[in-house]
Amino acid sequence: MRVRVIPGAPLSGSISVPGDKSIAHRWLILAATARGRSRLAGLPPSLDVRSGARCLAHVSLEARPGLDAWTRGVAAEAEGHGFTWNIRSGHGASPILEVEGEGRDALRAPEASLDCGNAGTTMRLLAGVLAAAPFRSVLVGDESLTRRPMERVAEPLRAMGAGVRTTDGHAPLTVDGGNLTGITFAPSVPSAQVKSAVLLAGLAAEGPTTVVESAATRDHTERAIQALGGPIDIDGTKTTIARFQNGGLEGTVPGDVSSAAFLLAGAILTSSAIEITGVGLNPTRSHFLDVVERMGASIERVTEEQVLGEPVGTLRVRTGSELRGTTVDARELPLVIDEVPILAALAAHARGETWFVGAGELRVKESDRLRGLAVGLRGLGGHAGDEGNDLVVAGGGLPGGRADGGTDHRLAMAFAIAALAGEGPSEVDGMEAADVSFPGFLAALRRLGADLEPA
Ligand code: S3P
Repeated sequence: MRVRVIPGAPLSGSISVPGDKSIAHRWLILAATARGRSRLAGLPPSLDVRSGARCLAHVSLEARPGLDAWTRGVAAEAEGHGFTWNIRSGHGASPILEVEGEGRDALRAPEASLDCGNAGTTMRLLAGVLAAAPFRSVLVGDESLTRRPMERVAEPLRAMGAGVRTTDGHAPLTVDGGNLTGITFAPSVPSAQVKSAVLLAGLAAEGPTTVVESAATRDHTERAIQALGGPIDIDGTKTTIARFQNGGLEGTVPGDVSSAAFLLAGAILTSSAIEITGVGLNPTRSHFLDVVERMGASIERVTEEQVLGEPVGTLRVRTGSELRGTTVDARELPLVIDEVPILAALAAHARGETWFVGAGELRVKESDRLRGLAVGLRGLGGHAGDEGNDLVVAGGGLPGGRADGGTDHRLAMAFAIAALAGEGPSEVDGMEAADVSFPGFLAALRRLGADLEPA
């Protein structure tokens, strides 16, 4: 889907964003493997989360009716409204999921391969869960997911005792689950997906499992297990977990701060004041706000409540700040791993250069984001280049032009936001990919006042 973006319209208003896809994955897994009842609100209708729910329904007989009902409900809602263009799903608008779990020991062999779609989180986290289930599962994904590295998760699960085969390091992934033994594991790349896969496997292993990371990554798995009373010990970037069967969970998934980041950036670039409510403010996810403040913007954050260990609150952008370039280094990169596209969009309008250094992980996301950002920003009339593990974005503004997000949701959304502050109109291709993480992205932008139309 191609969208024409006409710059100049200021944004205003208060809005919420769909639930967090990372948190939704963890809570869905914990609910489907619980022994007892769970009730989850605010699960987003994003394609990735629907992939996760569908895969879980195939291996969890007791949770299947609830998971199927939820998936049918969100599909009807999304498709009925025409997806990202019109859908009005904000935070908490989706149907509620109710499941009655029989426990992790009751997982059943799937009748077919499990299709994880575009979702790396579904594939890697489920591999951790299925590593302890005494049957064979085959995990497949779309073309983009099939290009992403899977040995990073297969290797520690094998060390714990599971039979895990990749296809030349990639999906399809065959998991022959069984009895696991705890390990101490230091991943070679900081990755919340790898850490979470090992911790979820550790919940069903004999003896303790420890993950030692070289840099902090998002900690939603740890917070949820802790909130449910699980045996988890966190010491900086060293996390130790022991066997635990949870008894069910209840909560509303916080709005996705990574989705909020696009709207906040849109407000910053158009010197507008907006408010985003009900959004997750976990510090391992909100570092984007610190980087943006370093660039000169001002965002007020107010934490209002804690839900299953996750801080939730409101973000407000105040008008009128001139942006300056910055450097994001390898140490802070894991904390803004999904925000590099939108930071690059902001950087294109800043004074001076912005560097993303040691950002090689971005080459193995939903697409090669370093290359995609450099090409896309140049398409919008800017100057940007990628080399090795680095991306540099020259500031100074964008004349406007055309950019293609391919099948990468965050690239398409970043280009649309960058174009909002162009000197002239732009066109962005691949906009339908926004549904992967932020269904209703275009509708939300329009509601705030942005001038966008189908091209
Ligand atoms: C995620 C972790 C990150 C992130 C992805 C979601 C998660 O991936 O990019 O969008 O839910 O754990 P890595 O752990 O591979 O960096």
